Amino acid sequence: MGKKIMVLSGSPRKNGNTNTVVGWFIEGARDAGAVVELIDVASLKSKFNGCIACLGCQKSDKFECAVDDEIKPVLARIPEKDVLVFTTPVYFYGPSAQLKLAMDRMYSLAKFNPHTGEISHPLGHLTLGLISTGGGDVNRGLHIVEQTFSTLATSIGSKLESLLVPFASMYSDDIKHNGELREKAMAFGHKLSVTE
Ligand SMILES: Cc1cc2nc3c(=O)[nH]c(=O)nc-3n(C[C@H](O)[C@H](O)[C@H](O)COP(=O)(O)O)c2cc1C
Repeated sequence: MGKKIMVLSGSPRKNGNTNTVVGWFIEGARDAGAVVELIDVASLKSKFNGCIACLGCQKSDKFECAVDDEIKPVLARIPEKDVLVFTTPVYFYGPSAQLKLAMDRMYSLAKFNPHTGEISHPLGHLTLGLISTGGGDVNRGLHIVEQTFSTLATSIGSKLESLLVPFASMYSDDIKHNGELREKAMAFGHKLSVTE
């Protein structure tokens, strides 16, 4: 049985740069035997505009979000996976709001002890991945996005593997014809399918 990978697609452009690279990644991962679940996070219906900090998740023993909408069952499946891959364009020096919305609600997969500062969670076995595309060079937001996800990885005792794609214009189709990037993205999919 191959690795179980969940890919969270955070770009609203179905056929855009990020999803093009994501498609190649998935091709590489499936070739290597992984079982990939792709979630179009950007089109999931969320009851609220973001996490509303109701803290319902912290009051229960279960690792589940208290808000019942289309994001909740996706979050519930994360602990069953081996690899979780976040994918996003850079939007104003950070991840897209669509991805961040789902990511904030991952708080429900952790129990935070306000007295000791300790966090318990069922995510320590996960490898985290990041695919991010940006219009500028890596200093226009890609490195900050990477830092966000590597901080998350460190805090759950995991590690982050990332594929950053700078100079990805929304005004051309250049990415789609970039054979070198295609190879790189497929190799990245392969790597995350065999990683320990
Ligand atoms: C609202 C918005 C904000 C953006 N902000 C940045 C930015 O801060 N830094 C950057 O390098 N690119 C920025 N870009 C460019 C996109 O990140 C880049 O073109 C990306 O590849 C688009 O991905 P997509 O085709 O998946 O939508 C921005 C684009 C949009 C629409």
